[in-house]
Amino acid sequence: MPTAAVPLPAAPTPAGLKDRIAAGLERARRRSLTLTDIVDTPDLTRQHSPIMSPLVWDLAHVGNQEELWLLRDVGGREPLHQEIDDLYDAFKHPRRERPMLPLLSPADTRSYVNTVRERVLDVLETVPLEGRRLLADGSAFGMIVQHEQQHDETMLVTHQLRTGEPVLDAAPPEPAPPDALTLPAEMLIPAGPFEMGTSFEPWALDNERPAHTVDLPAFWLDTVPVTNAAYQRFIAAGGYDEPRWWTPAGWEHRCAVRLDAPQSWARDGGTWVRSRFGRVELVPPAEPVQHVCWYEADAYARWAGKRLPTEAEWEKAARHDPATGRSRRYPWGDEDPTAAHANLGQRHLQPAPAGSYPGGASAYGVRQLIGDVWEWTSSNFSGYPGFASFPYREYSAVFFGPEYKVLRGGSWAADAVTVRGTFRNWDYPIRRQIFAGFRCARDVAPGEG
Ligand SMILES: [Fe+2]
Repeated sequence: MPTAAVPLPAAPTPAGLKDRIAAGLERARRRSLTLTDIVDTPDLTRQHSPIMSPLVWDLAHVGNQEELWLLRDVGGREPLHQEIDDLYDAFKHPRRERPMLPLLSPADTRSYVNTVRERVLDVLETVPLEGRRLLADGSAFGMIVQHEQQHDETMLVTHQLRTGEPVLDAAPPEPAPPDALTLPAEMLIPAGPFEMGTSFEPWALDNERPAHTVDLPAFWLDTVPVTNAAYQRFIAAGGYDEPRWWTPAGWEHRCAVRLDAPQSWARDGGTWVRSRFGRVELVPPAEPVQHVCWYEADAYARWAGKRLPTEAEWEKAARHDPATGRSRRYPWGDEDPTAAHANLGQRHLQPAPAGSYPGGASAYGVRQLIGDVWEWTSSNFSGYPGFASFPYREYSAVFFGPEYKVLRGGSWAADAVTVRGTFRNWDYPIRRQIFAGFRCARDVAPGEG
């Protein structure tokens, strides 16, 4: 099967909000179609892993959410195919059930999402972006653009789990800059308050709101994410064999499913290889480790004499500017991400080497907080003080609690529109199919700092 480079998402900056929305919808759709047109019908309808949906389900679900929110709610239009709503409701059908459902065929799915999109563009032209909260700042449209891009990242996870000939390709990231080897291993984040979350970011989701002050003691944070080389040292030191590095639940899980390396890694003689989108290659030592679950990240951190950062620590290191006292939108400032700031948007099909993107460093000098790998934090997913569900409880609130751990920063597969300094992702601590890695933190010892 021929391989195809994934087109670079264009990053136009049109002046008007409606133009920006139309460009965001178009960019997301181009990516969804690339990820689904590139495989044949059996690969679209098959379930590649019990924890993933068939690709054709993701595509129709994206269209169905767009119809529900933008055509029926915002546009007041009649349902196109009300009978399919149930099939594509993520809360009604867990992923393992989805391949057994009477799903739309790939051809009918494409036709459905095209029809929805044509009508949504009509609605966008005529609807005033003010008044109702769903309309202010185009927030319903922003939610749908982000939703589609998030499913595109999920579809990439499915591609990674798919077996068969490779179909995706992209240029590798640039080598790390010369100073990557001489960076301090950790940066000190001094004690003090900072503003966490946001009340103003127009397309921020309910769980990022409201802005509130959090006062933290000083701590050290790794300057870059934990690399494959460092993780290999943990494996070589018997990290997977010693219960003392693991929480009881983590150890139980490690034994039950026999974890002994990141997902998709294998030993080849004396070296480690990995499978990446259907190609087997040497594990690149300088690249941030990915496909580790929270339990593995937590065990590594304990072995290293450290711990995972809380999400408040992560966000302070990423956003707080000690010179002004305010929190930035991104580590580097308030401007939207460019290729000089971060590895985002599936531009490459892997993380960039640790120490890359000096232009994306935070005020404290911490690198790669945005892009490359989602970063596990020690925090459970919960609502901020003053949290209010919007536009409905199922968006975030039903996931609050100790079952889910928070991830921050976005991966190389996340689009810029879905990643901000305030953005919060969450998943079960056993999950490792996602493009997640981590960095470590530690308390300041007496006399240090
Ligand atoms: Fe969804």
